[in-house]
Amino acid sequence: MKKPVYERVVLKISGEALAGDKGFGIDPDILNSIAEQISEVHNLGVQIAIVVGGGNIWRGRNSKHMDRATADYMGMLATVINALALQDALENKGLETRVQTAIEMREIAEPYIRRKAIRHLEKGRAVIFAAGTGNPFFSTDTTAALRAAEIEAEVILLAKKVDGVYDSDPVLNASAQKFDSLEYIDVLNKGLGVMDSTATSLCMDNGIPIIVFGISTPGNIKRVILGENIGTLVRGS
Ligand code: GTP
Repeated sequence: MKKPVYERVVLKISGEALAGDKGFGIDPDILNSIAEQISEVHNLGVQIAIVVGGGNIWRGRNSKHMDRATADYMGMLATVINALALQDALENKGLETRVQTAIEMREIAEPYIRRKAIRHLEKGRAVIFAAGTGNPFFSTDTTAALRAAEIEAEVILLAKKVDGVYDSDPVLNASAQKFDSLEYIDVLNKGLGVMDSTATSLCMDNGIPIIVFGISTPGNIKRVILGENIGTLVRGS
């Protein structure tokens, strides 16, 4: 049997992925399928920390006339809703989980404490990081990069609706070409929309590889963890 190639990973799930085709809110079937995929990987003994986005509920950057910081705080609260939904779905699969939030809300979840997060992972709990970095002007991709550096994860698994990084938007352009691998600097120079520049730079400075792949195909998280070359690998030179 194939063995996992990673021991500790950060899985970033975009909010949109949770909405499925509905485009808004949480699709219970999708949530269940994602939880199933995470549980498969967890059963292989991989330590999993999850960063979840909030775009299925609120997209700060689309709120034209709103103060940016306020819009971003609303987005962070949206991620807490998603984190609780994911926690519930994972616990239904029998996983032990802990939600840690970057904005204190003691009644709902424990606060983010780096050492405690690592301890939870070592004890076999899936840890879900909610409320982004707790700061406006930072994305949940940046949260994934920051938390991966903090907990010394070996890789960021960037689960998306599309199945990798393309040279143009594959939804709009049928002849868009997918990259098998890229360097961080290419992502920055070509302005590829895989991750924002803050997140990409953070990964580049800390040498954290990113694997971008599609979450819609069941079993994909496991494929990546077992070292199959699906999606796009972003790394240093
Ligand atoms: P260890 O005993 O250190 O292995 O970790 P533990 O998470 O089992 O212990 P702890 O007593 O810290 O937590 C027990 C439960 O309470 C877990 O479900 C935590 O997520 C939850 N919990 C811990 N701190 C807080 C908090 O500040 N707020 C909320 N709402 N829950 C918390």
